[in-house]
Amino acid sequence: MQVKVCETALQEFPADILVLLLPPAFPEALQSLGPDLRDRIREAWEKMPQYPRDSLVLLSQGEIKAEKLLIIKVPERVDVFELRDIYSAAGREIRQKELGSSVAVTLTGLLDPALEAEIAVEGIAQGSYLPELYKTSGNHKKVEAVSVYHLNPQEVSGALRKAELLANTQEYVRDLVNEPASRVTPAFLVEEANRLARETNSLIEVLTLAEAEKMGMGAFAAVARGSEQPAFVVKLHHEGEKRNQELCLVGKGLTFDSGGLSLKPWDAMTTMKSDMAGAAAVLGSFLALSRLRPQLDFIAVLPLTENLPSGKSYKPGDVLKAMNGKTIEVLSTDAEGRLILSDALCWAVQGGATHIVDVATLTGACVIALGHETAGLFANSQEWKNQILLAALKAGERIWELPMFPEYRELIRSEMADIVNSAGRSGAPAGAIFGAMFLKEFVPEGIAWAHLDIAGPSWLPRGDKKIAAGGTGAMLRTLVELGLSF
Ligand code: BES
Ligand code: MN
Ligand code: ZN
Repeated sequence: MQVKVCETALQEFPADILVLLLPPAFPEALQSLGPDLRDRIREAWEKMPQYPRDSLVLLSQGEIKAEKLLIIKVPERVDVFELRDIYSAAGREIRQKELGSSVAVTLTGLLDPALEAEIAVEGIAQGSYLPELYKTSGNHKKVEAVSVYHLNPQEVSGALRKAELLANTQEYVRDLVNEPASRVTPAFLVEEANRLARETNSLIEVLTLAEAEKMGMGAFAAVARGSEQPAFVVKLHHEGEKRNQELCLVGKGLTFDSGGLSLKPWDAMTTMKSDMAGAAAVLGSFLALSRLRPQLDFIAVLPLTENLPSGKSYKPGDVLKAMNGKTIEVLSTDAEGRLILSDALCWAVQGGATHIVDVATLTGACVIALGHETAGLFANSQEWKNQILLAALKAGERIWELPMFPEYRELIRSEMADIVNSAGRSGAPAGAIFGAMFLKEFVPEGIAWAHLDIAGPSWLPRGDKKIAAGGTGAMLRTLVELGLSF
């Protein structure tokens, strides 16, 4: 998607469709349109019920360059989440009804222009995405260009550059998540990481399964060895100027989670190609951050494997040893995300990371707790937690803290090893907290660590008014804002 600022008169706007968000007081800015069109817009606007409601499409009948207008009534006051949803719904309508491939927007003036310009572009990009990767016919025409009408281009040009980058990166992340697991294998993601390293001038280190095992990653290795696909652990390092604060993003890269020998029922497996959404979000934010803040020093660690049953699979009852020496009793091979992440966290710590955030489709329990709108946040440092909450607020993404009170340590107690990977029965209480308490064991105190459980928001089983079903690119913008806050 291409993004531009447009300062030519509204009538001269070169676009297929002009999106007009109209607040309850009819805006005088529309004076510049011809009286006929302005009257027709006013008439439509007056007949529209109060927000929230559906939008309305008008034909401009040659009075302006844009062939169509999309009229949307907005309330007097909106917050950033609401405004993003409005633009997203507009983008989705334009794509689904094929209203045009180039879109122009005027800003409402309800928020700071740079902020609204960014939200408008990202919202339209988010809403106009459809996962039609493999349709051989009947594809909906893509939205290729968005221009924002603003008389003072300098005021919004930085925001638009950022929005264009995030819009395109978001599409990339969503495609990665939506692609089938037989295509997006661990090796495929290693290739992507290699390409990103080249494009961003970053260092990359790729461990094979044998190398990971030699380094003591017994938990990762146990999960990986049941699969025929070669597994890898990747470390990307974008070298910046400041090396005093070591930011490290860790993403769960389970390219397909069948559950292993603790096999999932077939219907729970249908969406498990998305179990690498954390790794995809980290890859995307690595790319975007190195473009937006080239002087920032940061690291990404991605454990990449499948979880499959075979004669070589690890078994319930096995005891594993992670890289930090801790022993883990396995009661369910389906609690594999925490296992591969434990070694990834150890490697991050060993590399000198001081501010770690892991992003993982970790538990179905988190989906039960928070649904698909909100990611679960866990952290071992109040300050780090606040920095992440603030980043999510800036990004317009919903995250919510869940507790890690010391009493919950009891959950992961094992009779025969240091800790246990799961309760060993389904429906056990506090499943999302269990996962977080487990991960916490692999980060020494004094190192700021947070865990984002994105099992809910990274994948939508159904599309709605504002976004398509499937991969969402959740936490991409939050991770980018987090990096920008350093
Ligand atoms: N990848 C799943 C979590 C998941 C479930 C993500 C649903 C998205 C939607 C994870 O590896 C898993 O299987 N977790 C188990 C843990 C249990 C065995 C302790 C779960 O949530 O059931
Ligand atoms: Mn699993
Ligand atoms: Zn999983």
